[in-house]
Amino acid sequence: METDTTEELVSNVYLKLKNNIVKYRNLVGRPLTLSEKILSGHLNEIDDTVFTGGKDYVFLKPDRVALQDVTGQMVMLQFMQAGLKQTALPTTVHCDHLIRAEVQGDVDMKVSLDENSEVFKFLQSASAKYGCGFWKPGAGIIHQVVLENYAFPGGLMIGTDSHTPNAGGLGMIAIGVGGLDAAETMAGLPWELLYPKKIGVKLTGALTGWTAPKDIILKVAEELTVSGGTNAIVEYFGPGTKSISCTGKATITNMGAEIGATCSVFPYDERMETYLKYTNREGIAQLANQNKESLIADPEIESNPEKFFDRVIEINLSTLEPHIVGPHTPDLARTISELSDDVKSNDYTDPISVALIGSCTNSSYEDMSRAASLAEQAKSKGIKAKIPLLVTPGSEQIRGTIERDGQMNSLLDIGATVLANACGPCIGQWNRPELEKDQQNTIVTTFNRNFPGRNDGKRNTLNFIGSPEMIIALALGGRLSFNPLKDDLIASDGTKFKLEPPKPAPEVPEEGFMRPEGIFIAPPSNSDDIEVIIDPNSKRLQRLEPFSKWDGNDFENLPIMVKAKGKCTTDHISPAGAWLSLRGHLDNLSDNMLLGAVNAFNDQVGQGKNILNNKQESFSQIARQYKEKQMRWVIVADNNYGEGSSREHAAMTPRFLGCAAVITKSLARIHETNLKKQGILALTFSNPEDYEKILEDDKISLLELNELAPDKQVRCVISHPTGEKDEILLNHSYNKSQIEWFKSGSALNVLRNNQ
Ligand code: F3S
Repeated sequence: METDTTEELVSNVYLKLKNNIVKYRNLVGRPLTLSEKILSGHLNEIDDTVFTGGKDYVFLKPDRVALQDVTGQMVMLQFMQAGLKQTALPTTVHCDHLIRAEVQGDVDMKVSLDENSEVFKFLQSASAKYGCGFWKPGAGIIHQVVLENYAFPGGLMIGTDSHTPNAGGLGMIAIGVGGLDAAETMAGLPWELLYPKKIGVKLTGALTGWTAPKDIILKVAEELTVSGGTNAIVEYFGPGTKSISCTGKATITNMGAEIGATCSVFPYDERMETYLKYTNREGIAQLANQNKESLIADPEIESNPEKFFDRVIEINLSTLEPHIVGPHTPDLARTISELSDDVKSNDYTDPISVALIGSCTNSSYEDMSRAASLAEQAKSKGIKAKIPLLVTPGSEQIRGTIERDGQMNSLLDIGATVLANACGPCIGQWNRPELEKDQQNTIVTTFNRNFPGRNDGKRNTLNFIGSPEMIIALALGGRLSFNPLKDDLIASDGTKFKLEPPKPAPEVPEEGFMRPEGIFIAPPSNSDDIEVIIDPNSKRLQRLEPFSKWDGNDFENLPIMVKAKGKCTTDHISPAGAWLSLRGHLDNLSDNMLLGAVNAFNDQVGQGKNILNNKQESFSQIARQYKEKQMRWVIVADNNYGEGSSREHAAMTPRFLGCAAVITKSLARIHETNLKKQGILALTFSNPEDYEKILEDDKISLLELNELAPDKQVRCVISHPTGEKDEILLNHSYNKSQIEWFKSGSALNVLRNNQ
């Protein structure tokens, strides 16, 4: 199977790394962290600039791009709009998000292939046309497939999915980006990134017993909270890193997205070498061994981390307890011993309705083996899971291997249902007709994200996240308050027993991974005759029209579409679930705009006041009427607006319907860039308390936009219906070229104009 992470490519990367590291180390005059090494090794051009984290922008040359089937549609549509012939760097497309989770793997796959066939045909034809590798539906989840085939220590990858940092488990800087970033990079442009700050996580001790890699990231999430990693790379170091398998490291870097980190990375070690060898990349392991110095931090970093990182956290793995986080936010953490009291004091629903293991985060060979070890204990006592147990293998390679080696049978023996190798219940492709509308219920998962509505589209589903072994234990106990470390289970003969911690599991199969055939299509060498397939009458795919350029006038007296209260993630702005099917059709998708946002003006979800008729209507209904009258409007929001995913649709749908500016207390990193790229002004209150000054019938004016410049605040006048006015200042982080995006109407317009 072609993987196109050729040894030649890796060898060239290592050569550049080596040279640039020496230059950059000399320039800064101090030892370098691993992330500094990888970033300097991928600078588009190295000169004498010393970068400050959180302040300077850098232009980088990534080694590859990964696209998934939902966000990838818009990337391809945008790439087509840019008018280029072929992608300039290795790119792959992965069909995973559009696969349902309803009955069981094969059945769901058949239905999903039927209902998404036009999207898959489009992606396959566009991949062939533009030189991208195409992973068919059923091949696996993007991050698992990338880890198995493309990730390599010291590499730089961007992906249109926020859990792209999964590849950090194999020592790669891998960053989730918006679709336009990907399209531009595919077009050969350098990729621009706000140079990240550095957070160091020192791991001492070693994982034992019930504690799993998942617990490390859950602990880090508790410490740093959902925004604590914003604009930072989290770099793990210390002796404890060696006690974690490569795939365990990937679980940790995957969920770095939950603390808002740019990405997370581990230093190269023997565990990575083993994984590379078992995934048929012996040659890359050899190259990595020869270039090890470039793939780990300089030795002085570890001995004096406080001097080199902006923040350092230390975790002793030997004393770390299993954690469970949730509901509704991944930083609401407690140890398993504290969970039972928490269930009572917060009135969480104690009976668990469904347990789910797998996903891109936790479906490695080691994860499945540890889960199977508990299942085998249960079987030997004659019991099964007390509740439905759903298993999502991360890839066909994993699915085939655990089928061959027996872990799948062990899980089936306790009543598990194996779903397709796809995102399914992790991204709202999970239909649960058994639930009453608004019925509060508890699920336990090994996934990464647990915002309301994320898994099954139901806002009252409480998702508690833990390690695979802990989720299997909870499935056997059937209650959220069950603590496997101290509570008994009842065997089929009526005797009581306690679960033993899972057996230490191999990180790779002794016999090697099963290598599936027929799931990947390499691009043809000549694609001149290939047509990209889009039905002009499609309800799911639509060729893009450029957004109009800024007319040069200030925005005056704009109405406020919403004043979002509390958390407003990309899932609130552009929900997934059933809407996933429309991600290639901007007009139709825009009906979901802000459907999950809580409006501070009326405490309602997804609706506000239409100033044209004074009625309460859905935001998209209002916006379509404003658009017809060519009225622009603004979004006002709370902290960390747009956290969650790299979903650029959360910027495109407001832009399509006429949003001129987003004004918030603070912005999540990827979403801020997405807003800028789509031509929406991304602004933050200079004084966050000014959020309170904005009232429902106010109008917003943004002034002196002709003088928009880096580091210059924007004047904003809030006009109240009483005739009174408040003048406030807004911050922004636009640099000169980003200001051109705004003026031209979008970054894509700039790219096309430059062709
Ligand atoms: Fe993302 Fe979950 Fe799929 S985190 S890649 S939706 S398995």
